[in-house]
Amino acid sequence: MLSEIVDVVLKSLYARSASLYNHSMVTGRLAQQLVVAGDLWRDYDPQQAHIAGLLHDAGKLFLPDAILLKSGPLDDTERGVMELHPIWGGQFCQGTVLETFKQVVLQHHEKPDGTGYPLGTREVCFEARIIQVADTLAALMDDRPYRREILHPHFLLRQVRETVEGLFAGEKERKVLHAVRVVLGLAEGKHARPPLSLVTT
Ligand SMILES: [Fe+2]
Ligand SMILES: [Fe+2]
Repeated sequence: MLSEIVDVVLKSLYARSASLYNHSMVTGRLAQQLVVAGDLWRDYDPQQAHIAGLLHDAGKLFLPDAILLKSGPLDDTERGVMELHPIWGGQFCQGTVLETFKQVVLQHHEKPDGTGYPLGTREVCFEARIIQVADTLAALMDDRPYRREILHPHFLLRQVRETVEGLFAGEKERKVLHAVRVVLGLAEGKHARPPLSLVTT
């Protein structure tokens, strides 16, 4: 039942925007890889992380084409509407088999320092923090019309490090940063592995 509903969401994302579908697929894959590579599976089931990544932007299904498909940067008004998508996504999950994912979908743009959106709450669940790291990486890998694709692993690591440091502290921060290095193929020594595939087929 759950996999069928997730499949319907993915098909709907694809129908609205192929790039939104690809972004969701890459975020799901990355979230799962981060949990495994960071040895975080006691905190977050990798399969749950995968599904949460697939669903995290489901609220964007409710955006008008003029905003969702806009090829350039959003203006302030459009950004205000865009920033409602976590609320719509949370409502989408509520009261369905997706209820377990409501909180992570709602909080995936919130920051522990209160500078996130849509609520600006400082309470951000661990799951939403992991999805945020995967989302940031996936967004940097996106080939957007107004920005060249950024795929150099060292550049990606530098960009994502700030996100990780803003979301985690201590042992968790160390584990997530290690996971990012592994996923980007930058880990050394006994943890070194080739970059994990991001093929979404
Ligand atoms: Fe989002
Ligand atoms: Fe996203």
